[in-house]
Parts: sequence; C-alpha cells; structure tokens
Amino acid sequence: VGFHVAVIGTGNVGSATAYSLVKECLAEELSLVDIKPGLAKAIAEELKHANASIKCDVKINWYEKDEELSGADLIIISAGYPRRPGERISRRDLARKNAEIIKFIAEVVPPNNPGAKYIVVTNPVDAMATLFKKISKCDFVISTGTHLETLRFRSKLSEVLRVRSKDVVGYVGGEHGEAAVILWSTVKIRGLNLSEYLRSMGRKDFNKYEIENYVKKISEFIIDASGATRYGPAEAFTDIVKAIVLNLNVILSIATPMRFNELKEEVFVSVPTVVGRSLGLRLLDMLSEDEVRGIKEAAKAVYATYLRSVEGLNMD
Ligand SMILES: NC(=O)c1ccc[n+]([C@@H]2O[C@H](COP(=O)([O-])OP(=O)(O)OC[C@H]3O[C@@H](n4cnc5c(N)ncnc54)[C@H](O)[C@@H]3O)[C@@H](O)[C@H]2O)c1
Repeated sequence: VGFHVAVIGTGNVGSATAYSLVKECLAEELSLVDIKPGLAKAIAEELKHANASIKCDVKINWYEKDEELSGADLIIISAGYPRRPGERISRRDLARKNAEIIKFIAEVVPPNNPGAKYIVVTNPVDAMATLFKKISKCDFVISTGTHLETLRFRSKLSEVLRVRSKDVVGYVGGEHGEAAVILWSTVKIRGLNLSEYLRSMGRKDFNKYEIENYVKKISEFIIDASGATRYGPAEAFTDIVKAIVLNLNVILSIATPMRFNELKEEVFVSVPTVVGRSLGLRLLDMLSEDEVRGIKEAAKAVYATYLRSVEGLNMD
C-alpha cells in the first residue's frame, strides 16, 4: 500500500499493535522505536520471523532514540507509563508522568517526519493528544479515544443478547475512561434499534448498567490478571490505521479536537467520525440530547486532565 508506519513505544500495547499491522500487511515499511535498550530490536527481529511466514514484504527498522525516526507517514505513539496490576489508579493519574514523554516526542519527531499523521495511544489518551497537538501543531492528530470501548461494548452486547458480534452496531463516545458515554441511540442489532430488537425477541429484562460497568471496568481485570491489555487495543488501533491507509471512510469513535463554549481551548473527545485519509463528518447530530450532554461533560473532564498534565511542564 506504500505507507511507512511507525510505532513509538514497543511495550505491551505497541508490540501487539505492530504485530497486528504486519499480519494485516498494512505497511510497506514499519519502524519501531523504544528507548529501552534492545527492546525495539527484539520486537523487530520477531516480526521479521513472523513476516517470513506472512510474506507481506515489509521492511522493518528499529531505533532507540525518538530523534532517529524519519520519513514516516503514519506514527502511532504508545510510549509511556501504563496502569499496573493491583494499582487502583485512574488513567487520568498518568497525566503528569506521560506529559513529559509526549512533550519530548512532539518536539523531536515532527521535524524528521514532515506531513506525518499521528495516532496517540498513551494514556490519558485524550489529554495526551490535546497536548501533542498543542506542542507539535501537526495537522492530523487523533486520539484512539473510545474506539476500544466501542469494541468492548459490542463484544459484551453480543454476548448478553446472544447474537454474533458482526450483527451488532453501536458506539461509545466521550472520554477514554471514566467519562465514556455509551451511545445507546446508535445501537442496531441485525438492523433493528435496541428496543425494537428486544420487543421482537419478547425480552424485557435488559441490564444496561451491567454492560456499562463491563465497558468501564474490564481493563482493570485484564491488567490485574495478565499484566496489561494487548490484543483488544492492538486490533482497535489496527482498525484506525486500516481506515487511514486504505482510505475506507468508515465510522469510528475516535477523538478529534472539538471546541465547546465552556472551555478555553479545544480538547480531544470522541464522537463517531468518518475516518479515511482525511477526517470526515462527526456524527454529533444523530445523538440524543443526553448523549451530547455526556460528551460535553467528558470534554470538561479531558480539559481538567490536560491542565493537570501541563502543570509540571515548561510550556513556552
Ligand atoms: N488508548 C488506549 O486505548 C490504550 C490502551 C492500552 C494502553 N494504553 C496506554 O499505552 C501506553 C503504553 O502501555 P503499555 O502497556 O504498552 O506500557 P509498557 O510499559 O509495556 O510500554 C511502554 C513503552 O514505552 C517506552 N517509552 C517510554 N518513553 C519512550 C520514548 N520517549 N520513546 C520511545 N519509547 C518510550 C518504554 O520503554 C516502554 O517499553 C500507556 O500509557 C497505556 O496506559 C492506551
């Protein structure tokens, strides 16, 4: 397809994402960057072995300095501290520590990668994308936002309703984290909206709270039991890369910069958005009033986290 894709930060999430990109042959060239000595090289070597089976002819590079990455078209930023097993903290609590990393990357990477598009993964992701955009001033910056929640939502909904996940449509918007908003009005099961579908099945008992709770809490369980989330995020981010590289113009719930009257600056918050090589329509109008209100509340929460993240930084 001719894209040079880079992954900055090849820990649990970055390496799983890189593997998924190779498996789907989405890059002609793949650059891996990690400051931990040997890590990017180790992942690169393994991916070359995997590629000998997949045979998609990707050229794989590795670097240990962010400044060494050059000529990439699409850059995924997954460098930074994650939540750890047993740690009862919010993604928002990672803001101060990860802001330093994001600031550094925003300063040193864009000069060597002119015109690159950026997908920010590092948590708290919506605040970190806001910070990255503010410092780098790059045109195309998105936060992976609530696309991951959207996949978690669809997976749980299909389980509870006993339908195949491919028969379930529905989005989550707002903040990636506590202020995620389940967009119930967007749900379609085999083409029917949720209440029509439940009626057609003669079902009344439906516990929305259980599903919402799952969407917001399952990552904590995964991190506690297995150390980190990997495959869910990897596929979520691959969906986004695929939409861009193949110019699919599909609707994904990613976060892009939005302005709200109550906030002094634009912040990244998720709304189902048409994603291709450029970003299309944001489908805010199709949501209910309550859902739009929830998204505004989420934007306020992201802004508060963003402000917290810049407190310790020297921003000129
Ligand atoms: N957006 C999402 O939906 C989502 C999902 C899962 C994880 N995350 C976030 O992604 C980030 C990474 O998570 P993880 O589990 O892979 O963590 P990890 O600790 O396994 O990996 C992070 C890697 O970043 C590297 N790194 C740090 N600073 C760097 C720099 N300047 N340049 C290059 N590499 C650098 C570290 O050496 C480490 O290998 C965390 O902030 C986590 O919270 C986001």
